Amino acid sequence: MANKKKARLTAKAADPHALYQAAVQCPEAEMNFVEAQFRRLRGREARRIREDFCGTAYSSCEWVRRHPQNLAVGLDLDLDTLQWGADHNVAALPAAAQERVQLLRRDVREPGPGASSGFDAVLAMNFSYWIFKTREDLRGYFKIVRRSLKPDGVLFMDVWGGFESMKEQVEKRRCRGFVYQWEQAGYNPVTGDLKCYIHFEFPDKTRLFRAFTYEWRLWTVPEIRELLLEAGFRKVRFFGEGNDKSGGGNGVFRETARHDADASFVAYLVAER
Ligand SMILES: C[S@@+](CC[C@H](N)C(=O)[O-])C[C@H]1O[C@@H](n2cnc3c(N)ncnc32)[C@H](O)[C@@H]1O
Repeated sequence: MANKKKARLTAKAADPHALYQAAVQCPEAEMNFVEAQFRRLRGREARRIREDFCGTAYSSCEWVRRHPQNLAVGLDLDLDTLQWGADHNVAALPAAAQERVQLLRRDVREPGPGASSGFDAVLAMNFSYWIFKTREDLRGYFKIVRRSLKPDGVLFMDVWGGFESMKEQVEKRRCRGFVYQWEQAGYNPVTGDLKCYIHFEFPDKTRLFRAFTYEWRLWTVPEIRELLLEAGFRKVRFFGEGNDKSGGGNGVFRETARHDADASFVAYLVAER
């Protein structure tokens, strides 16, 4: 009888993009939020979206999968990551859905032909826009996003905050077949510069050390909101996550003007053009 047991993951055999998607992303939940909030705010369905900093375009693929009229354009600078997304995520879609997703190697500040206008929604997730470290640069990016949206278009972003975001620490989370490690390696309170790494550890104790590196500015919600308004967005809404019985996040995000001073929180910011 064939041995049906799956081989245990090791650092040598593991694929960092697959591990990242499994540990960090949940495109179904993200797109449920985008779909429902766009409908609530605009009274119509979002159809054409752009995923900025799309990486492997996991979210774009979820978007085109869920409705036959949904279209997605994913922008990222890294060709290898885009290729991985095309080979693994786009290729896994039904043929008709594959035609509705387009991955482009572009800087989000220069979206270029086919990606500069007419979007119902633009997404910038997993704090990727924190690579812009000055007010001028972040405001400049927001202006470009605003110009890319239809008159009633909406920008969806996530944001991370709480006093632990400034702490140098390592958090570990057990995932299927590996341990995900989030290291906040350095925070400079003078500049706001934050350096983080993702490592993966396997049952045989091998590690994918610094599989991903992030050099960000740690922005706060009021700073981001001010820059969005300065860039011309009409309204910026904050959606905080509720708690489950153990005090962790319950995955339900509600609009609020006040949020608990949690040690660490992840929320959505929704900006209307
Ligand atoms: C944290 S990953 C985000 C992956 C995925 N979107 C997610 O939500 O998890 C950040 C991505 O941004 C890309 N990136 C960084 N600067 C960029 C820029 N100026 N324009 C386009 N992509 C950029 C990197 O290549 C990387 O794939």
